Amino acid sequence: MIKVLRTVEEFKTWRATQSGSLGFVPTMGALHEGHRALLDVSVKENDRTVLSLFVNPTQFNDPKDFEKYPITWDEDLALAEKAGVDAVFAPTKNDLYPDDYTYRLSETEFSRLLCGAHRPGHFDGVLTVVMKLFQIVRPTKAYFGEKDGQQLQLIQGMVKAFFMDLVIVPVPTVREIDGLAMSSRNHRLSAQERSLAPEIYQALRESLSAETAAQRLTEKGFRVDYVEDRKGRRYAAAFLGETRLIDNVELNYGR
Ligand code: PAF
Repeated sequence: MIKVLRTVEEFKTWRATQSGSLGFVPTMGALHEGHRALLDVSVKENDRTVLSLFVNPTQFNDPKDFEKYPITWDEDLALAEKAGVDAVFAPTKNDLYPDDYTYRLSETEFSRLLCGAHRPGHFDGVLTVVMKLFQIVRPTKAYFGEKDGQQLQLIQGMVKAFFMDLVIVPVPTVREIDGLAMSSRNHRLSAQERSLAPEIYQALRESLSAETAAQRLTEKGFRVDYVEDRKGRRYAAAFLGETRLIDNVELNYGR
C-alpha cells in the first residue's frame, strides 16, 4: 500500500525506517507518461521509490501561471500506485518554506541564460526547492527528464558544487505520437493550438540554424522566447496563446 506523507516530520519518520537504495522523482503533479517513465526507471533501479507532489510557488515568475497550474491529485495517486511507488511526499508551502523563502540558492551564470533570461528568478526557485527536497528525502538517485534540459544541467551542477552524495539520472523525453514533448502544460492548449504544437519539435530538428527555426515558428503563429544552439543541443521556448512550451533536441538529429 502506497504511503502518503503530508508533512516534513511525517516523511522523516517514515524515511528513518527505510533501508536500501531510494530513488526519488520530484514533480509538481499533473502526472503524465513522461513522469511515468521517470518512475519506471526509479522503481527498476532502487529498493524504494519516493514521488513528491508539490507545486512550488517560488519558481513561478508569473503568478497567473501558478494559479492555473493543474492539480490532479486522485489521478496522480492512481498513477503512482500503478507505477509501484512506495511513498508520496506532498508537503504544504508553510511546511517546506518555514523561512518564507528568505534563504535561497542561486546559480549566477547558466541560470541567467535560455529560460532564465525570460523567467527571472525561476531557477532560484527550482534549485532552492530541489535542495530542500534532497535534504528531506535523502535519495540515493534522483530522476529528471531531459525535456527540462537546462533544469537538469543546473541540478547536476548544484550536486557537484555542493559535494552532494546522490546520483542525478537523466531520462529521455517522452513524446506524443506526433512528436510533441509530454508536459503538464499541454492540457491547456486549445484544439487548434494542440494541432500546431508538434511544430516546435519539427522546427528544431529540421531547420539548418536556430534563427531559421525561430522564424519558422513565428510564421506558424508561435511567440518565440528563444531558439538557441548550445553545446551540441538546440533549445527552444515559445508560446502558443497563453501556454509556454519548451523543448530541446540533439543537434544534427535526423539530418
Ligand atoms: O520539473 C519540475 O516539475 C519542477 O521544476 C521540480 C523539479 C519538481 C521542482 O519544483
